[in-house]
Amino acid sequence: MPSSSQPVPSPIAIDGPAASGKTTVGRALAREFGFGFLDTGAMYRAFTVAAIEAGIPASDTPACEALASQLVMTTEVSLDTRILLDGTDVTARLRDDDVESSVSEYSAITGVRTAMVARQRELAAAGQVILAGRDIGTVVLPDAPVKIFLTASPEERAKRRGAQSEASGGPGSVDKAHQDISGRDETDSKREVSPLKPAADALVLDSTALSEAEVLQKARDLIVSRAEFAAAAAGTPDTATKTGGPRAAAASGWMAKLVSPFYWGTQYPIRLILFLVTRWSVSRDGEIPPEGPMIVVANHLNFVDPPILGTALGRPRRVRFMAKAELFRGPVGLLVKLYGAFPVRRFDADVAAMLTAERILRQGGALGMFPEGTRSRDGQMARPHPGTALIALRSGATVVPCALTGTERIKGVRVFLRRPAIAVRIGEPIPVERVKRPTEAQVSQLTDAIDGAIRALLPAAYGGTYTGSSGSSRQ
Ligand code: DC
Repeated sequence: MPSSSQPVPSPIAIDGPAASGKTTVGRALAREFGFGFLDTGAMYRAFTVAAIEAGIPASDTPACEALASQLVMTTEVSLDTRILLDGTDVTARLRDDDVESSVSEYSAITGVRTAMVARQRELAAAGQVILAGRDIGTVVLPDAPVKIFLTASPEERAKRRGAQSEASGGPGSVDKAHQDISGRDETDSKREVSPLKPAADALVLDSTALSEAEVLQKARDLIVSRAEFAAAAAGTPDTATKTGGPRAAAASGWMAKLVSPFYWGTQYPIRLILFLVTRWSVSRDGEIPPEGPMIVVANHLNFVDPPILGTALGRPRRVRFMAKAELFRGPVGLLVKLYGAFPVRRFDADVAAMLTAERILRQGGALGMFPEGTRSRDGQMARPHPGTALIALRSGATVVPCALTGTERIKGVRVFLRRPAIAVRIGEPIPVERVKRPTEAQVSQLTDAIDGAIRALLPAAYGGTYTGSSGSSRQ
């Protein structure tokens, strides 16, 4: 939980398809934090009730838009969103079959959405709130500091909706729920205005295999990280790696003081070891920026890749690598920490790791990432995750693409007999312009650029397109 010195950030946006658990999670968090809760779906449902009662079909767009702009809708921001139309409470009517089957069509009308979005923004501005819906993170509150996109497989959502209906005395048919849900998914995600999709900076939580308690815990973790991020941005000392439950941590306290001397102190011993047990070479196609935020990205073949890359890059840039949390245990963990690495649990989804990365870059540091998220088993480079591009765009960090070949052969004690050829190719840096809120298109464009730049340095055997001789300038 965020402590009293770290207020819970507001507003919180929760989006997701029908029956993904938005309302359950949103209400539970609102109860816990003492926030208001607004189920925006209820507003579209209330509009649908008004239109049905006025005899206006969804096909009559102008009449629907006129109704939306005149409608006197009073929405209570509370755990059980209550809605009045012209003073009459219609809450009990919102889940009726006729509303259920036509709400998607009415909510796809531009003028209806404009009117609802304006009301939702007003309600969100009135206090600390959680809004649940389909377009909260993307359209209604694009600046929300916390965005969660909940999903689950259609089968799982139908099962939950069927059980809910049975519990409340309804027919409880999973098949019917499945049909309704598939229909609504289709209309909600294919409509032209504000289609259902996660915001580029949302935490996407697939709850298919998670319990309610697990989903809630992940949502809390995100909120804690965001509170810490806000505190750090406001000048409070770094807390991002200190809280958030038991987790692997980067070097801290006295150990942090040893990181820089250890990093530079290892350069010559690593060179010596590489010289003795391998035939290694480094080539440079471009100049590495001597200062400013920079992300070194490479394909990943062996757990020894970070020190090899760090050594190949050499002075003046000390690179902080993101490394998987399991490596931070025992004696190896001590070396990993001393090398200045910091832990990541799940690439793209570990918010605390992403925040640590952004903090390092904000301070003008150099970050090392393996955008595939894990080591390649067959040597072929996999498609990079979008997390690297997202961080690069948000911090305006120059991306330095690198390619590693042969490091997969560094294994076993007899490696010195084989002396495998290993090569590090350092590519032309990619300048990146800072974007406060990158769009999905920008993230995917930079992800493609990173993918292409690494592959251009790799030979075909590693999934690359490079055809020159591998490696020059022997070390
Ligand atoms: O969350 P719900 O099932 O009560 O939503 C009912 C409908 O309202 C849903 O099919 C899509 C629409 N809706 C929307 O378009 N935008 C929102 N922010 C919330 C709901």
